[in-house]
Amino acid sequence: MRHVLILFAHPAFERSRVQRRLLQAVQDLPDVTIHDLYEAYPNFDIDIDHEQRLLSKHDVIVLQHPFFWYSVPAILKQWEDLALEHGWAYGSQGNALSGKYMLTAISTGGAAAAYRREGHNRFTIRELLAPIEQTAMLCKMIYLPPFVVHGTHLITDAEIAAEAAAYRQIIIGLRDDLINLEAARRFTAINTDLEAIFAGEEVRG
Ligand SMILES: Cc1cc2nc3c(=O)[nH]c(=O)nc-3n(C[C@H](O)[C@H](O)[C@H](O)COP(=O)(O)O)c2cc1C
Repeated sequence: MRHVLILFAHPAFERSRVQRRLLQAVQDLPDVTIHDLYEAYPNFDIDIDHEQRLLSKHDVIVLQHPFFWYSVPAILKQWEDLALEHGWAYGSQGNALSGKYMLTAISTGGAAAAYRREGHNRFTIRELLAPIEQTAMLCKMIYLPPFVVHGTHLITDAEIAAEAAAYRQIIIGLRDDLINLEAARRFTAINTDLEAIFAGEEVRG
């Protein structure tokens, strides 16, 4: 059993349609800690010791947020800048995060087709997430393909419900080590083909 920490960042949660449902889908899960960064730090005054203690206690670190300007909301950048200290998270003596898993869980206004070379956004999601992927690598973490919900402006409530159910299944799968990570790495997103990554494993809970 792995312990999952969800670092949640949405600056306008009261207006959220998609992220709210994703969060609701996992909030009752045992061994899953939800940490709402905008709620905890309205003044961006990150408590570094607290953040490092939280990270130390968990094995899977999830960055859950809407995709903003092809990147993370500001508080998550602040969190990275302060919590991931040299000598703790990275550097020759910095091994606190070594071997832990990192998953990004994002929603994007842009449709999947927009995130292609010939598409409106010109780069793939994986390319745009390169700074996070490399941050995870520098911290000796295991970077997972992202969980992505596309096209949030047009998505129906039924589609959001399906994405939320998939998110719950993936978080449980990571917690209980039910996901074939090698199979998952073949996909651009971890939620591309759930049947393929669970390979017959039954998800309970
Ligand atoms: C400041 C801001 C920046 C955004 N930047 C992007 C972006 O770079 N790419 C994209 O696809 N959508 C972008 N969006 C759309 C959001 O990602 C989208 O509204 C959000 O994921 C919907 O989730 P929610 O219903 O939980 O708010 C942006 C929205 C805002 C408000």
